[in-house]
Amino acid sequence: MQNKNIPNRTIWRTRGGDVKIIDQTHLPHRLVIYEINSLNTARKAIKEMKVRGAPLIGVTACYGLALAMNNDNSDSGLKFAYQTLLNTRPTAINLRWALGHMFKELISLSRSKREHAAFNFADEMVNRDITTCRRIGEHGYESIIKTRDKKKTNEPLNILTHCNAGWLAAVEWGTALSPIYKANEAGCNIHVWVDETRPRNQGAALTAWELSKKEIPHTIIVDNAGGHLMQKGLIDMCIVGADRVTSSGDVCNKIGTYLKALAANDNKVPFYVATPFSTIDWSIKNGLQEIPIEERDQDEVLFISGLAENGKIRQIELAPENSKASNYSFDVTPAHLVTSFITEEGIFNASQQGLEDFKKIHEKC
Ligand code: MRU
Repeated sequence: MQNKNIPNRTIWRTRGGDVKIIDQTHLPHRLVIYEINSLNTARKAIKEMKVRGAPLIGVTACYGLALAMNNDNSDSGLKFAYQTLLNTRPTAINLRWALGHMFKELISLSRSKREHAAFNFADEMVNRDITTCRRIGEHGYESIIKTRDKKKTNEPLNILTHCNAGWLAAVEWGTALSPIYKANEAGCNIHVWVDETRPRNQGAALTAWELSKKEIPHTIIVDNAGGHLMQKGLIDMCIVGADRVTSSGDVCNKIGTYLKALAANDNKVPFYVATPFSTIDWSIKNGLQEIPIEERDQDEVLFISGLAENGKIRQIELAPENSKASNYSFDVTPAHLVTSFITEEGIFNASQQGLEDFKKIHEKC
């Protein structure tokens, strides 16, 4: 995916072998590149949300494990690195999925082979993510066309998205935004409603940045506006990403997703969830009971940061000094509120059967 004057990927290796990322905590105001050169810098990058988004967290963790093998490739070193990275963020399942596969492969090798195999594994994860997200885009594009064809006017097709599930949340393309990029490339007349996504504003800061770089028409809205816009007929479809999907089709995604799904259901607006196979947690069924929901620091709610008039990034306090805040980062949308899953293998029903069908096709490939 070509981007003018910005890296094409969120994470890459230089010719010298260093691992670099876009530090997303500075966007949209500054493009800052951060070097991951150890287990600890990888841990920090994930924990502090320099990288975020389920697929990218998984890929970054793989490089973290590879770098750890450079320092201590013993069984205990491998176990320690695995656990350190796994503990960074609890909700997005791609982290466990990627680390689990990698750990299994490395533990079976002799120590001298581990570092080389680990970097190969991480590079392979990068390639795999790019292909997967591109294919999600191709299948999602078909859903966009179907919705557009039902629309009676030539007005732009209005798509709402929540949080950031674009290329910044993956390596390239992204999940929820990938179909939008494909539609834009094909010349479709689209407009994107971007939920700002408090408290960290991944919508206003990251999704809007991505879309503006591609010159895709978009409008940022406050998180509570979506329902009103749906009632007014101003949203034709919603596409969101996922941090974890259960085997029965419940979807865990950024806090606020559930309310959009409820409003979409009430207004008969199709609600699509774009998800790769790696985001499905086959070991659980009931999202609300079984998915650990990350609770982050209350300061993310009590303070807000942005670009001040002097060109510096500043943090300001929003609430009375003694007020407390709670900061649940994710919520669960039950499967019955999801129209379909957009995946790398096609479009599937949001049900146990739908996901079993996805699995069958995926395992054949
Ligand atoms: O806390 P984040 O920014 O890592 O959460 C990411 C999300 O929840 C996104 O909405 C996304 O849909 C999941 S990642 C493709």
